Amino acid sequence: AANPLWGGRFAGGASAIMTEINASIGFDKALWRQDIAGSRAHAAMLVAQGVLSAQDGAAIAQGLDQVAAEIDAGKLVEDPALEDIHMHIETRLFALVGDAAKRLHTARSRNDQVATDFRLWVRDAIDALDVRMAALQRALVLRAEAEAETVLPGFTHLQVAQPVTLGHHLMAYCTMIGRDRSRLADCRTRLNECPLGAAALAGTSFPIDRFSTARALGFDRPTANSLDSVSDRDFALEFMAACALAGLHLSRLAEEFIVWASQPYRFVSLPDDYSTGSSIMPQKRNPDAAELVRAKAGHLLAGFQRLAVVMKGLPLAYSKDMQEDKVPTFEAFHTLDLSLAAMTGMVETVTFNRDAMRTAAMSGYSTATDLADWLVRAAGVPFREAHHITGRAVRLAEERGCRLDALSLGDLQAVDPRITQGVFAVLSVDASVASRTSYGGTAPDQVRARIADVRRELGL
Ligand code: ARG
Repeated sequence: AANPLWGGRFAGGASAIMTEINASIGFDKALWRQDIAGSRAHAAMLVAQGVLSAQDGAAIAQGLDQVAAEIDAGKLVEDPALEDIHMHIETRLFALVGDAAKRLHTARSRNDQVATDFRLWVRDAIDALDVRMAALQRALVLRAEAEAETVLPGFTHLQVAQPVTLGHHLMAYCTMIGRDRSRLADCRTRLNECPLGAAALAGTSFPIDRFSTARALGFDRPTANSLDSVSDRDFALEFMAACALAGLHLSRLAEEFIVWASQPYRFVSLPDDYSTGSSIMPQKRNPDAAELVRAKAGHLLAGFQRLAVVMKGLPLAYSKDMQEDKVPTFEAFHTLDLSLAAMTGMVETVTFNRDAMRTAAMSGYSTATDLADWLVRAAGVPFREAHHITGRAVRLAEERGCRLDALSLGDLQAVDPRITQGVFAVLSVDASVASRTSYGGTAPDQVRARIADVRRELGL
């Protein structure tokens, strides 16, 4: 039989395969709340504009309440022949309130309907992720505050470079998450325009009020071009790009936890509830949660790609290709949401092994730069020359198999006679970090000042 909603011009029904490939209810049912909200706003506007009778409007509003209650109670009956969530809701509404339901679709198309629903969904997803990201920032700030003076090696090329403070290191991630939040906020600002009323692609001849539906749905304004309204999905792409970047940041933190938890480092011990054992090696405690967060960044990056490839080269306006926009977008949200929750849990509960960090920070001649800087400051040596002198001191320490500050004054003076006893004050890791007082530097006082800024921003 022909489709009851659009089958007027069809002699027969769809093939089973057509029905299967066409159906999106399996995933777009996630839009049901947004779809009901959109229909409510649309019906109320039609009544206000005199397009729909008050009676029909009331029947529709009441019927939509009931449909919502049913779906909320898990009573959505999925029927692939009804294609998508929009037709499921409308069909159920008709069963409940009769002919009034047939008037709801006046001055509307599924094209502007789905664009509206989807924007509302992405907007909600952004708001939920923002809460999660703020929670991760809060966890990082609290741990950073307690570790403002904890020294660990800072690396470049994963080679010991200069000592840094753990608080500083953790706040680096807090800063990244802050940018991730602002990217999502930008995305939200741009997407917050209402496509409803663009109809199929050209707008409508009915005297609708797009400003009132936009307002009712919390949008800043209606979209400006009906063709663009039904065919633009860059809000979803932008959302996924922002999610991918956030996932990438989480993967780096996850990787650090994984490396730090390994036995040669022992900088951290990850809590039992974020680790798993091995079925053969009894001693094992593996950082699986961190590894999965690291891997999920791959899904997030691919999600952007999946939709970008669907959208590339599509002519205006709507094409069914766009139905494929939802799965990657929904998945991006759930993946990032879960990754953020896992990372927050790990940050809150990880044990920092301060001794191992300190010991490692003292290795690798990490304060060599401090010696060179001292030569510049105390002895007026040009930096390039000081660099060279320090290199010779490092070579000597290497020959002796000792740290830089274990060389005697005599040893150092043999390298360069301008070195005096005062140099030993700058060679410890604590002196090194304490001296990095430039704005945004690793000195504990700087770190505390920047933490105070972030605390204010976060309202902590
Ligand atoms: N399920 C469709 C989607 O998600 C709704 C729009 C259908 N529009 C159409 N012209 N067939 O894109």
